[in-house]
Amino acid sequence: MVSNFKPAERLKRIKPSGIRRFFALAQEISDAINLSVGEPDFTPPKHALDAGWQAAKEGKTHYAPTNGIPELREVLAQKAYHDYGLNYDPNSEILITVGGTEAIFLALAGLVNPGDEVLIPNPGFVCYEPGVLLAGGVPVSVPLLEANGFKPSIDDVTSLITDKSRVMILNYPNNPTGAVLSYDEVAALAKIAVERDLIVISDEVYEKIIYDDAKHCCVATFPGMHERTLVVNSFSKTYAMTGLRVGYVYGPKELISPVWLVHQYTVACVNSLAQYVALAALKGPQDFVKDMVQEFDRRRRLVYKRLNEIEGFNCSLPKGAFYVFPNIKGSGMSSEEFVKFLVREAHVTTVPGPAFGSYGEGYVRISYAAAYEQLEEALNRIEKAVKRLI
Ligand SMILES: Cc1ncc(COP(=O)(O)O)c(C=O)c1O
Repeated sequence: MVSNFKPAERLKRIKPSGIRRFFALAQEISDAINLSVGEPDFTPPKHALDAGWQAAKEGKTHYAPTNGIPELREVLAQKAYHDYGLNYDPNSEILITVGGTEAIFLALAGLVNPGDEVLIPNPGFVCYEPGVLLAGGVPVSVPLLEANGFKPSIDDVTSLITDKSRVMILNYPNNPTGAVLSYDEVAALAKIAVERDLIVISDEVYEKIIYDDAKHCCVATFPGMHERTLVVNSFSKTYAMTGLRVGYVYGPKELISPVWLVHQYTVACVNSLAQYVALAALKGPQDFVKDMVQEFDRRRRLVYKRLNEIEGFNCSLPKGAFYVFPNIKGSGMSSEEFVKFLVREAHVTTVPGPAFGSYGEGYVRISYAAAYEQLEEALNRIEKAVKRLI
């Protein structure tokens, strides 16, 4: 044992993710239904997996270029143009990363100076705050309130910007709330970013998982935004490839170069075989995505309807991602107490809202990226447990 061992000072304010903690709780119960994790229960399209096997057979197992295999960057450049009319040079403005997670972390490491303020959504994805803190920045919470459809209020954002503000993180469709912004709402945020000269890191990993009449608007398409935005995306959710760890970033050369530099010294390159799987997934037919989203939609409606029939829950119908974020204040318990109650009495694992930030108190996140039948069973159990309580 090293004498007087203490982890590095910079980790002082970093806590383990609340999601993993509750995931671990479920492991202790043999028949627990886990609705705490954010990953599709689908297998990636077969043609994509086959491309990975094929690449292995062809011996494509060496280091890939640091910024990713050229074929994948090329197809991603076409995607940006096709989806959003945006031009990115595949050689200097696209970086393949180890999932969106690495992209976010490195973007913060590459762009944030000590003392810089970074606007982060609260509740928001668990990686933002630790990423800002490890970069020496100061996280500034933008409240996403239920009363405002879990969307940021422009007045709040404006009032939170100071002369130290440097970066604004956006994440729509949003984890944990499922909120999606309209064109006008994105336009209003883009206008602030331009006026206040902010860099925007836009985490768009759920861009394809949207429902009803919702449309995803990429923030980099708005006037003055291409030059100040890093768009973070991933194959994890769209192609159910969470374990293969392939993400990417689009951005102007000036912003992406520092990110690339840190990436070079952190991971050298992304797993080459996984990049061939990603390439085939993107190039091949997209019905996989359409079918998966259709199934998510079926589950979304089930969960929304059933939860609202249970006393103590008040759930809005989200337009994106695969989460609902019901209000459980009617139960009289805190989010954490409620989640523990559900584990103990219903054998169902969810995540307490505060795992995503202080404004998550009074809510729980339920992932419906689990099979329909499992969700039905989980909802039956939750209903019974809550009835016993009342
Ligand atoms: C909003 C958001 N961004 C990024 C990620 C990172 O995903 P990955 O690293 O698998 O691409 C997640 C995963 O849950 C997420 O919810």
